Amino acid sequence: MAMHLPSRILLLLTACVFTCTYISNAATDNAAPSGSFSFKDNFDLTGAEDHFSTSPDGQVWYLSLDKKAGCGFQTRDRYRFGWFSMKLKLVGGDSAGVVTAYYMCSDLGAAPDRDELDFEFLGNRTGEPYTIQTNVYKGGVGNREMRHQLWFDPTEDFHTYSILWNNHQIAFFVDRVPIRVYKNNGKPNNFFPSDKPMYMLSSIWNADDWATRGGLEKTNWTHAPFVSSYKDFNADGCKWEDPYPKCVSTTGENWWDQYEAWALTDSQQEDSKWVWRNLVIYDYCKDYERFPKLPEECNL
Ligand SMILES: *[C@@H]1O[C@H](CO)[C@@H](O)[C@H](O)[C@H]1NC(C)=O
Ligand SMILES: *[C@@H]1O[C@H](CO)[C@@H](O)[C@H](O)[C@H]1NC(C)=O
Repeated sequence: MAMHLPSRILLLLTACVFTCTYISNAATDNAAPSGSFSFKDNFDLTGAEDHFSTSPDGQVWYLSLDKKAGCGFQTRDRYRFGWFSMKLKLVGGDSAGVVTAYYMCSDLGAAPDRDELDFEFLGNRTGEPYTIQTNVYKGGVGNREMRHQLWFDPTEDFHTYSILWNNHQIAFFVDRVPIRVYKNNGKPNNFFPSDKPMYMLSSIWNADDWATRGGLEKTNWTHAPFVSSYKDFNADGCKWEDPYPKCVSTTGENWWDQYEAWALTDSQQEDSKWVWRNLVIYDYCKDYERFPKLPEECNL
């Protein structure tokens, strides 16, 4: 019977099923109270100062992009393993060409040997869906892109985007649904960033040379400034302190490093299957044109 429903309705129904599962699944639900990481004490601004603002109470942060400049921020601390999370509301309306990057990186420049875990939100023309791209870098090498569509409009409201990172898996979550899992296969030639502590960063920039339909759609500057909004940053993880290997838990806990967090839970696996069936639009592991010989980890 469900087979006759329009796919959009089906999507909504399925969304409800797993949202409900999620409410009862508090395994990873250890979010610190909102606002416990203030911008002033925990972040530095990158880019134009007048392109950053906050709500009067300081809880919501805004990055804006216009023809002259973009903007970004980065944590002062580095972390190695943990649960990293933030709520984002993306640029609405005609945002084609605009990219909001939200990521972890071992280096604040673009060091040639950096490790990186990326969420990138690629804007689109009014009414056309956003694409979310994830990527993993190790030692400066990336090329591990996946692209997903979302099951909601990310410009209408705040949604939570999180990374769970330990020595066994890197999982990218959207509203606690795992959209991508990257596993450590434990082999010597493994492509799994685990050694270098990372900062958390975000930025908004013009990428109309590649982002929308491979660069065909240009940013329409009459709609500037383009603004992305942020709140509720949370790092529940191991804060890195030199000298190596000092590591201090930000919350006194380390559930993110424990056995239960080494793989997806059963209900997360169900959600993951749903994501694979409905939302994946690009997977580098299936791109034989680009990789005549697929990267090693694709055969896990
Ligand atoms: C924008 O919308 C078009 C049409 O729906 C879609 O094909 C494309 O994947 C979307 N995303 C980007 C980044 O262009
Ligand atoms: C840019 O947006 C303006 C205002 O909506 C519109 O009039 C114009 O045609 C757009 N330009 C392009 C190149 O699409």
